[in-house]
Order: sequence, then C-alpha cells, then structure tokens
Amino acid sequence: MVSDSSIDFSKNILVCGGAGYVGSHVALSLMRSGYTPVIVDNFANSDPSIITRLEAISRSAIKSYKVDLADKVRVFQIFEQVAPVAVIQLAGLKAVAQSFKEPVNYYAVNLGITLNILSAMSHYECEKIVFSSSATVYGEPDYIPIDEGHRVSPINPYGRTKLFQEEIIRDWVAAEGQASAVILRYFNPVGADASGLIGEDPSGTPNNLMPILGDTAAGIRDDVLIFGADYPTRDGTCERDYVHVSDVADAHVAALEAVLENKYEIFNVGTGRGVTVREAIDAYSKALGQRLPKRIGARRDGDAASSVAANNKILQRLKWRPLRDFKDACRDEVKWRSYKAGQNLGD
Ligand code: UD1
Repeated sequence: MVSDSSIDFSKNILVCGGAGYVGSHVALSLMRSGYTPVIVDNFANSDPSIITRLEAISRSAIKSYKVDLADKVRVFQIFEQVAPVAVIQLAGLKAVAQSFKEPVNYYAVNLGITLNILSAMSHYECEKIVFSSSATVYGEPDYIPIDEGHRVSPINPYGRTKLFQEEIIRDWVAAEGQASAVILRYFNPVGADASGLIGEDPSGTPNNLMPILGDTAAGIRDDVLIFGADYPTRDGTCERDYVHVSDVADAHVAALEAVLENKYEIFNVGTGRGVTVREAIDAYSKALGQRLPKRIGARRDGDAASSVAANNKILQRLKWRPLRDFKDACRDEVKWRSYKAGQNLGD
C-alpha cells in the first residue's frame, strides 16, 4: 500500500468518540501528522477538560462537538457542518461486564451509532472509514499468535457488537461505489501520551490490568490480585499483547493513508509479543521505583491463557510498526497517573 494523496490534509477528519482513551490519542496523532481532527463525543465516559489538554499538547485549537451519535438527526447535522473527508469511528460502550447485564442497550447503542454514521456518510458522499474493533472478536484463541484469518467467535455481548459492526461496515462498503473501510482489531492498548496530560480515565472501578496497577500504586487498592497462576504460560500467569496507545493511535493515521488493495481490510494492531501478568507488575514496579504488592487469586471467567497478535499483515501493508514497548507504556502511565492525581481528574 502507498500513501493516498487524495486525502487532503487541510480537510476535516471526523473522530467519533474522540474524547475517549484511544480516540483522544488518535486526535493527537492526526494533528501531529498535519490533519484536522474534529472530535464528536457525548463525554459520557470522559472529562470535558480533555479538549483543553489536547490543545495544550498540540498548541493548536481543536474543533469538538458534544453530540450523542445515537441521535441520527444530530449526526446528519454534524456531517452538514463539518463536511468530513473521512471518519474514524471509535464511539460506543465498552464495558464487558456491563454488556452481559444490558445486552439490548449495548446492541442498540453500538450498532445504532455506526448505522447513523454510515447513513450520513452515504448521504454526504464521505467515502472512507477507519473502525475501532477489538481482538475480543476472536474469542478463545485456537492458536497463537492470532492472525486476521483466525475464526471469529466473541464470548461476550460487547465483543459481538464489535463483530456485528465490522460486518455492517463490510456490507456498506460492498454496496457503495467508492467507499472503503479499514477495520483495526486492537489487542490490549495501554499507556498514555508521553506528555502525561492525557491517558486512560475510566469512570468507576477499573477492570483492566493497567489502571488496576495505577490504582494499587496510588493506594486506592491494597494489592494487585493476579487472576490465576496455573496457566500454561512461562510463569503461570496470563499473557497479553499490550500495545502502547500512541502506537495504536498512529495505526489509525496509517490506515487513513492506505490505499486499499481491497475496499475492506482488517488489521490486527499488536506488537506480536506477549507480556504476562507477573511481568507487567514487575515492569510497572520498576517504572514506579517501588514494588507493587501482589496476591494470587482464582482464575477470572472467560480469560484466555494467552492472546498475542500476528502483526505481519499490518507491518507489511500499512506504514506502521510499534515504536514503543511495555516499559515505555509503564513510564507514560506513571506520568499520566501522577498528573491526574494532581488535577483530581476522573473522581
Ligand atoms: C479485557 C476484556 C476484553 C476487552 C479488553 C479491553 C475480559 C475477559 N476481556 O481483555 O473483552 O476487549 O479487556 O481492554 O474481560 N488481570 C489480573 N488481575 C486484575 C486484572 C487483570 O490478573 O486485577 C489479568 C487478566 O487475567 C488478564 C490480564 O491481566 O490476563 C489483562 O486483563 P485485562 O486488562 O482485563 O484485559 P483482557 O482480559 O485481555
């Protein structure tokens, strides 16, 4: 794939869900690459100060709209006003446990948002979409590393909403003359922008490992509970492919610039390297300069022993490779957590 000169740098790129964890880093990567992101978000799971913090990092003004993308009329109004040349769609609900409790809401919101966006794209002849999907669509892996041809079989409603959105987008592309789509299946995004001014800011009690390490360091939790130490991995704890969120963000820019051989392409976004829970705790402790207390507990339902990406396809076909490692992610996460504590964000 080569760089697409038809994408005009001066034109607006709509970043749906651009105030969120990955979305805010995508907005930053776009600006750093010379594009003009326009953030659309309902700010349900993000602090509105994200916009001023993004402006502080990039030293430029950012257009943003507080809009519920489930509202079709408002989505059309945004397209009318912004006239985007491309869309990056990251908006949606993403809590696995909550998706079991309210599946209908998850399907309605996540599928509804993407349907509204695609309708508006057709209407306003906006032809390129990059979609934020997840390795969770693979479910329990049959083999490691997981390539894009691995069967898909998500094990929770959230994962199914991601898979169904992928398929809706594929049908849309097939029906539209000039349209194209890139689906990015992220493995485990972690870390924060190196500035330390933006990062993951989950509301409520976090379930993911990295924010839990941060909470333990901050004394919000007494220790890290390791979910099982009897897995068939090198140290008995689960292994994941943690990929720095700034690398994940850069993958969206590379996807935007790609000329597709096919009009619809799926790429894994991962490092191709696994880090175990014990290794993650050790690396975070090093970045912190203090040992995090840990304890071994029972396995968590639904956890695979190992989840690591085969990333050959993205390395070969997009202008992207991971530039940061897990150590960098821990350093940046510690910096972000220290900033966040000073600002009382997310409380
Ligand atoms: C989880 C979700 C996945 C979602 C992803 C978003 C499940 C089963 N999977 O993936 O659908 O797309 O988050 O980033 O919920 N761990 C501990 N102790 C903790 C927390 C986590 O040992 O307190 C371990 C887990 O067993 C796992 C690893 O840390 O092996 C990473 O966990 P997590 O951050 O929740 O990510 P995933 O389980 O990979």
